[in-house]
Amino acid sequence: MRILKKLANRLLGRAPEPPPLWHPSRGEDYSEFWTSMSTTKEEALIATRGKVEPEDQGLITCEYMARYIVDALEIDKTKTVLEVGCGMGIFACLVGHECGRYVGVDISPNMVERSRLFTRELGDHLEFRTLKRSDLGDFADETFDAVFFEAVLMHVAREDAFNYLCEAHRVLKPRGRVYASFHNLLNPSGFRHFLRIASSADRTGRHAVGRARFHTAPELRKYAEGAGFEIDERHSRLELVENDSKRHEARSLTIVGIKSERPDWGLDQEHPI
Ligand SMILES: C[S@@+](CC[C@H](N)C(=O)[O-])C[C@H]1O[C@@H](n2cnc3c(N)ncnc32)[C@H](O)[C@@H]1O
Repeated sequence: MRILKKLANRLLGRAPEPPPLWHPSRGEDYSEFWTSMSTTKEEALIATRGKVEPEDQGLITCEYMARYIVDALEIDKTKTVLEVGCGMGIFACLVGHECGRYVGVDISPNMVERSRLFTRELGDHLEFRTLKRSDLGDFADETFDAVFFEAVLMHVAREDAFNYLCEAHRVLKPRGRVYASFHNLLNPSGFRHFLRIASSADRTGRHAVGRARFHTAPELRKYAEGAGFEIDERHSRLELVENDSKRHEARSLTIVGIKSERPDWGLDQEHPI
């Protein structure tokens, strides 16, 4: 069907239709992929929030999670906060007014522009930047009291998620706090989501670079501790949740970490790959 449509477009001199959302040809790298996913407001809403809904409804939907982030990261007006993967600015709006300074960054310039537009009347303690690559090289060591990644590290390769946690560790002040959410492979609803993605794979080995990934609690613990965080057991959700609740928080795994000493993993003692 897509081939016929392509042919008809070419014969009629019409612009080709973009590939479906989440298709591998949306982009070779994170920046290209997410920029292609946010050229229209509707697509950007589906890419970030999973559905097209008016922004004020999006604010209501995310309010609970924003409150959770504010509490877990102990955010107040004295704190400087970094959000990585700020998307359309929903959390900039909900969390931004709770802190002294908020910086939102994203790999896609389209997303950053949408965040700026969405929060334009909220004051100049909110600042946005586009990242050139998946690191926080724009920021000096020990700049922030808190760093959060909402629905972001679940969309990058494991190595990049780990490197981002290490970067968060670097830019956090001593005892600063990090929050990151992930899909839970072992939860029935998380597994159904995984099955849908697995069944749409084109089996050539090409995958959408920004597709959702699925994790388990023990491996997230390992990444967070490996990056130098002490797990805040009270606020983290790292249980092997196996109930079939439809509630978002039952389907997700959440790390809340406190910056501590990074362990020495003795890398020098082993052979290079
Ligand atoms: C599913 S959306 C979530 C957006 C927002 N956090 C929210 O919950 O509304 C994922 C966001 O992460 C951004 N992103 C994806 N990969 C990234 C990367 N490697 N570095 C920084 N941002 C990234 C995307 O551009 C997108 O805005």
